Amino acid sequence: MSHNTIAINQQQQPLDHLESVWLFGYGSLIYKADFPYLQRRPARIHGWQRRFWQGSHDHRGTPEAPGRVATLIAAPEHSCDGMAYEVTPDVFAHLDHREKNGYLRIFTTFDWLDGSGQVEGLVYIAGPDNDAFLGEASPLAIAEQIAASHGPSGPNSEYLMRLAEALRELGEQDEHVFAIETELKRMLA
Ligand code: SIN
Repeated sequence: MSHNTIAINQQQQPLDHLESVWLFGYGSLIYKADFPYLQRRPARIHGWQRRFWQGSHDHRGTPEAPGRVATLIAAPEHSCDGMAYEVTPDVFAHLDHREKNGYLRIFTTFDWLDGSGQVEGLVYIAGPDNDAFLGEASPLAIAEQIAASHGPSGPNSEYLMRLAEALRELGEQDEHVFAIETELKRMLA
């Protein structure tokens, strides 16, 4: 599958008939909300794990030297905490452009982290069949690639550090992200 997903997302899933849509963010969408939203709430989705297995050609790297960013990998026994935003459907023009490097939107259920119930909403996932997917590597190898990568949105290390900080604020104990952060801090020290 081509790594530019804008057309696929817009054709497969028109949203204009909806008044508002919930979007679950688990990566940069947690700490960089560069779009208008009606409200936001911490949320959890089940059956997925956050992994730095997606290549970034357009934000934190280049096509020749991709960075590494977060995607979700199916993991039935696990869950992933993040931030959900209620947005109007027009906001997806911006979001689809921002997430165009391999991410497809899917509908899923999220639980509110405060235990008050659940909602159906969208999440952007870059699956193993997209051209920019890099796959598994050790925390050390991922940190080395992140330390060396830069793109139009800035250094790849900033993405990782800001996400780790935001996860701590949410109270999320993400061993994968924190192990990469430890390696990266050692390298950059
Ligand atoms: C997300 O944050 O939900 C998707 C991945 C990203 O934009 O970093």
